[in-house]
Amino acid sequence: MSGSALYETFARAPLAFERGEGSWLITDKGERYLDFAGGIAVNSLGHSHPHLVQALTEQAAKLWHVSNLYQIPGQSRLAERLAESSFADRVFFTNSGAEALECAIKTARRYQFANGHPERYRIITFEGAFHGRTLATIAAGGQAKYLEGFGPKVDGFDQVAFDDIDAAEKLIGPETAAILLEPVQGEGGIRPFPTQSLKRLRQLCDKHGLLLIFDEVQCGIGRTGKLYAYEWAGVSPDLMAIAKGIGGGFPVAACLATEEAAKAMTAGVHGTTFGGNPLAMAVGNAVLDIVLEEGFLEEVSRKALLMKQGLAAIADEFPDVIEDIRGTGLLLGIKCAMPNTKVNMALRDQKLLAVPAGENVLRLLPPLTTTDADIQEALARIRAGAASLSKAAANGG
Ligand SMILES: Cc1ncc(COP(=O)(O)O)c(C=O)c1O
Repeated sequence: MSGSALYETFARAPLAFERGEGSWLITDKGERYLDFAGGIAVNSLGHSHPHLVQALTEQAAKLWHVSNLYQIPGQSRLAERLAESSFADRVFFTNSGAEALECAIKTARRYQFANGHPERYRIITFEGAFHGRTLATIAAGGQAKYLEGFGPKVDGFDQVAFDDIDAAEKLIGPETAAILLEPVQGEGGIRPFPTQSLKRLRQLCDKHGLLLIFDEVQCGIGRTGKLYAYEWAGVSPDLMAIAKGIGGGFPVAACLATEEAAKAMTAGVHGTTFGGNPLAMAVGNAVLDIVLEEGFLEEVSRKALLMKQGLAAIADEFPDVIEDIRGTGLLLGIKCAMPNTKVNMALRDQKLLAVPAGENVLRLLPPLTTTDADIQEALARIRAGAASLSKAAANGG
């Protein structure tokens, strides 16, 4: 478990899981943890979902990989289904969220270039954003802690305060190509942009000939109770990055685009070795089989309400531990009244997994398939964790 040959880039918990079943993870010692971290919104259908296992193993027996030099029918099919169920007409598959964002950034710049504006390459982003760890996406995210020590920040990203649409408007200049944001900031602390702000950003982009890029890597694929978070606001982007939930644990991501936005992405201007390979596409299609089933998203919203109401009651009972509950669907945040790391540890002691985020929030990202019984169990564990913290705080701990 020491992992001495590994980069020390992750502060890993001293836990190793051997198996997963639905909302549960089982350690190598046989201990069962309720997984409401979900691989940070990756395990959209829980662990070992039979439909995903079947899709992956059937494909594994047939064909793992062919390069994008050839037709990949599963890729065309998944692209068509993603387009049919969103604003998009075109899709480029990648392996990670950051690569999907890279594709969106390149597509936006290339669009402006092809429209006779090669000078338009700058992208406006918002504080608290997280778009990945490549050189361009750390520049887009603009967080000093991720930029430090990695040389000159990649040029072309300008940042304004969270939800400061006036500042974004002022910043639009002759070099601006696009505006990029997560409709609900994940790592930033489960912070949604108000509907009005998304509408204004759409108008600003239309007025100035900019592309609107949404990062739904974390909030997409049913997480908020709609297939995409942007649907709540009724505001469509020109480009969008998705990842995490679409693979349910297999590395799959994609950049979705309108026909117009993607028109300059012609043969040879972009590429990938692994992106969209048959294994990944089999799983992506299998995830959509379930998420697009009639009534699935309504169930997510129903369960989310159950969870949120339960959390609100715990927050009322222990205001010294929990300040507030935020989020939509199963993208929930506990705004902590004490350090979120402390609350996270207390929940881990109760064998419940969660994920810290910015603004002193602790994220709860259960599988979209979690059951009412799992939710009740999670609430009981969260209550027990909050009670122990409250008692310790009262005793001066
Ligand atoms: C909103 C958002 N964008 C981009 C990324 C980067 O995705 P990946 O780690 O797959 O590169 C993440 C990852 O947490 C994310 O939450």
